[in-house]
Amino acid sequence: RLYGPMRKNSIGVDLSQSGERGVLEENVARLEKESPLAAGPIISGKPATEGGADVFAPFDTARKIGTVLNAGEADVDAALDVAVKFQPEWDRLGGAARAKILSDMGDALEANMDRLCAILAEEAGKTFGDGIAEVREAVDFCRYYAVQAEEKFEGRTRLPGPAGETNHISLHGRGVFACISPWNFPLAIFTGQITAALGAGNTVIAKPAEQTPLIAYEAVRIWQAAGLPGEALHLLPGRGETVGARLTSDLRVAGVCFTGGTDTARIINKTLAGREGPIIPLIAETGGLNGMFVDTTALREQVVDDVIVSAFGSAGQRCSALRILFLPNDTADALIEGLCGAMDELKIGHPGKAETDVGPVIDDDALGILVDYVARMKEEATLIKQLDAPSGGHFFGPTVIELDSLDQIEKETFGPVLHIVRYDPDNIEKVGAALEAKGYGLTLGVHSRLESFAKKVQAAVHAGNTYVNRSMTGAVVGVQPFGGEGLSGTGPKAGGPHYMLRFAAERVLTVNI
Ligand code: NAD
Ligand code: ALA
Repeated sequence: RLYGPMRKNSIGVDLSQSGERGVLEENVARLEKESPLAAGPIISGKPATEGGADVFAPFDTARKIGTVLNAGEADVDAALDVAVKFQPEWDRLGGAARAKILSDMGDALEANMDRLCAILAEEAGKTFGDGIAEVREAVDFCRYYAVQAEEKFEGRTRLPGPAGETNHISLHGRGVFACISPWNFPLAIFTGQITAALGAGNTVIAKPAEQTPLIAYEAVRIWQAAGLPGEALHLLPGRGETVGARLTSDLRVAGVCFTGGTDTARIINKTLAGREGPIIPLIAETGGLNGMFVDTTALREQVVDDVIVSAFGSAGQRCSALRILFLPNDTADALIEGLCGAMDELKIGHPGKAETDVGPVIDDDALGILVDYVARMKEEATLIKQLDAPSGGHFFGPTVIELDSLDQIEKETFGPVLHIVRYDPDNIEKVGAALEAKGYGLTLGVHSRLESFAKKVQAAVHAGNTYVNRSMTGAVVGVQPFGGEGLSGTGPKAGGPHYMLRFAAERVLTVNI
C-alpha cells in the first residue's frame, strides 16, 4: 500500500516563534496589497470570474478583498453534463490511482499553507491559530481519504459461496455528488466533503457557502494544478436558495453531502423526498446545543481554560462550540469569577494580527442575530459579562448569560455567547435528561475527577463526540472522527473509517462456472 502506513497528521506552525508569526503576518499584508482576488464558477477546469460582485472583509466592512461571479442555471447544467459523462471513467480509474491524486491534493494545500491562512483571515475572519488548524484539517482529510480509497475502493473482495460459484463484492462511486458546505470551515469541510466523494469514485459539483467563495476557488485552482482532472470536480459559487436548490432537485445528482444549519438540512431533505427518479442518500452534518458538565472535583483553572477555548475560540462559530455550561451550586460562583477574569485577557480584533484571540463574526446578518438575541436575553435572563467589541467590522464581544432554567434555550446561537445553568449534583441525571430532550447530539464536555460522574453524564446525554477533562472543539481527522446524532446530523463521521462508505454503491458479482 502506498499511503496507509505512511499517513501522518499534517505538521503545525509554532506560533510562539516570532519568525513563524512574522511570515503569516507578511502574507496577510501581501494579500492586502495585491489586486483583489477573484472567484467564479470553474467548470471542466475552466474558470470564469469576469463581472463578479464585490466581497468585503468581515473585520473591516469598507475593505474590498475580492469579487465573486455566481453560477447561473446554464452553469449548473453544463457542470452536471460533464460530471455525469466523466464519472464512469473516474470510477474505473480505481481507488489506488484516485488515492495518489487525493494525496497530491493534500501536499499542494500544505505547500500553500501561508497564503491559504491569509485568505482565511481576510475572507472568513479566521485567526492564525484557527487558520492553521483549518489548513491542517483539510490536508488531513485529503490524506486520510486517500488511505480509505486505496484500502476499500481498489479491486474487489472475495465472498464465500458453494462449489462452482464465485462471489465478489466491490465498492464504486454512485454518480455525481453535490457537496454543499458552510462558511465556518470554508476550506476544511469543503475539502473533506469533496475528497471523500472523489475518493469513492464519484464526480463532484461543489457549492461553497455564499460568504466564502474566494478560499474555495483558490483550493480548486491549487488541486487542478496538482493533477486533479477538471472533469472530476466543478465549482459553482452561489446562493443556497438558487444554486443549492437547483442542484439538489436535479435528477442527475446521485447523492448530497451537506454541512450547515439544521433547518437547511430539512429543506434539502424535503427536496430529495419530493424528487422523481432514483432515491439518493443525504449526508447532513448540522448544528448543536452542546453542554459541558462540571462537578465539584474539577480543577478550576483547567475548567476556565477549556471553557474559554470551547465557547469563545473561533468567535463561537463552531458547530462543536460550548453553548451551555452546567455548574454545581457549591462552586459556581468561584468558577464564574475565574471565567470572567480570563475573559478580560481576550484580545478581540483583526484576525491577521498574531495577538488576536477572537476575530469577527462572519457578516452583518450574523452580527444582527447576536445583537438581537443578547438584547432579548438581557430581559429574560441575567447578563453576567459582555466584552466590548471594536467598531468598523462585524465584531461581537464574548458574552456570558446565566439562565434560570434550561427552558429558556431551545436552539443553537451561532457566536461567542455562553449560557450558564446552575444545578444540584443530586439531580445530575434529571439535568442531563433535560438537555438530551432538546434533541441535539453533537458534542459533550465533562469536567470531573470522578469516573462515576462522567459515566452518569454520558448515560444521560448522547453526543457524537464526548470530551472528558479537556476542551470540546478541534476534532482531529482519524483521531476523533466527527459528527452528531438527532438534530445534529445523519452521520457517518467525517474523518472516520466509515465515512466514505456512505458515498459508495456496493456491487456483488456472482458467477457460476
Ligand atoms: P447554512 O445552512 O445557512 O448554509 C450551509 C450551506 O447550505 C451553504 O452553502 C448554503 O448556501 C447552502 N444552502 C442554503 N440553503 C439551501 C437550500 N435551500 N438548498 C441547498 N443548499 C442550501 O449554514 P451556515 O450558516 O453556512 O453554517 C453554519 C451552520 O452549520 C451552523 O448551524 C453550524 O452548527 C453548522 N455546522 C455543522 C457542522 C457539523 O459538522 N455538524 C460543521 C460546521 C457547521
Ligand atoms: N470538527 C470541528 C471541531 O471539532 C467542527 O471543532
